[in-house]
Amino acid sequence: MSILVTGGLGYIGSHTVVELIKNNFEVIIVDDLSNSEKFILNNIEEITGKRPIFYPFDLRRKELLTQVFEAHDIKGCINFAASKAVGESMVEPLDYYENNLFSLVNVLQEFRKRNISNFIFSSSCTVYGQADEMPIDENTPLKEAESSYGKTKQMGEDILKDFSRAYQKRVTLLRYFNPIGAHPTALLGELPSGIPNNLVPYVTQTAAGIREKLSIWGDDYPTEDGTAVRDYIYVVDLAKAHVAALKKLINSEEETVLDVYNLGTGKGSSVLEVVKAFELANDVAVPYQICPRREGDITVAYANADKAEKELGWKSETTLEEALKTTWEWQKYLKERTN
Ligand SMILES: NC(=O)c1ccc[n+]([C@@H]2O[C@H](COP(=O)([O-])OP(=O)(O)OC[C@H]3O[C@@H](n4cnc5c(N)ncnc54)[C@H](O)[C@@H]3O)[C@@H](O)[C@H]2O)c1
Repeated sequence: MSILVTGGLGYIGSHTVVELIKNNFEVIIVDDLSNSEKFILNNIEEITGKRPIFYPFDLRRKELLTQVFEAHDIKGCINFAASKAVGESMVEPLDYYENNLFSLVNVLQEFRKRNISNFIFSSSCTVYGQADEMPIDENTPLKEAESSYGKTKQMGEDILKDFSRAYQKRVTLLRYFNPIGAHPTALLGELPSGIPNNLVPYVTQTAAGIREKLSIWGDDYPTEDGTAVRDYIYVVDLAKAHVAALKKLINSEEETVLDVYNLGTGKGSSVLEVVKAFELANDVAVPYQICPRREGDITVAYANADKAEKELGWKSETTLEEALKTTWEWQKYLKERTN
């Protein structure tokens, strides 16, 4: 069965492509390489023994997208393609609305025209903002997102709700908490582009000497050690959830489905806990400095992922330490590559 994976050479997309191939799906990737590199395709082939079909173009180019749908009998899509830098989205909001929403609508139009169903959307826990209660389950009310990036996720969800209702389609919205780690082969991982926004790439680059010190944004939050708390989910576990969600959609007897799942571990870890766990797991030091709080950062967010366990038969399996080890191996691989 052919599945379109947009953004399939990116961080979460590439790990998911590996799991899809392992589960005998035929994968067709569209990725414009705006935040990924071509060598990832070779590495996917090295891991799986199969080279996915790959089209390098921007999803905003409708005519090229139509050609892909004409060439393949596509039965579903996992839509990863999006710009994701929160800070940048505040400076260039129109670029974020255009890339994240036009790309999405273009794929949905092809689905509508050809009467295809089974669509999975990469959403995010940012749609909840600072929730009033922990853990966050799927019924937790959404709050206005803090960033334009977060708004593209809320709007993307709304577009998909309308798409599912109006055209009787099967749709799953996956709300990721904080993906971390790399493939156990160290052949796939998160590619650094500029100064990392997320904690774990920043920790890793500091340990590698690329950054002098890790900046910890605030140690006066109302948490146990004063630093912000997040739910760090291992990327391979996350990738497996996509396969489970896709199988559920494909096997569904309903014509119209709108499922929403939180994907997290259910456990919150503070910034300082992550730093300590990284140091312990990899036997390296991570020098850090405490800085003032960063605007827009929330205090605490962790998931209740019981619904995914109950309905998808999926749960996070990998510990924080194990995930942080894979990150370090990936960092070493990247260093070797550039030497
Ligand atoms: N990584 C996270 O922390 C996180 C958390 C929650 C949600 N998400 C969402 O998950 C998805 C995947 O995230 P990721 O971390 O793998 O990001 P990523 O940047 O590594 O992957 C996205 C991929 O999409 C491609 N792309 C972007 N715009 C495109 C376009 N117009 N046409 C074709 N290709 C395009 C990029 O080249 C990249 O390979 C995104 O939608 C992101 O918003 C990520």
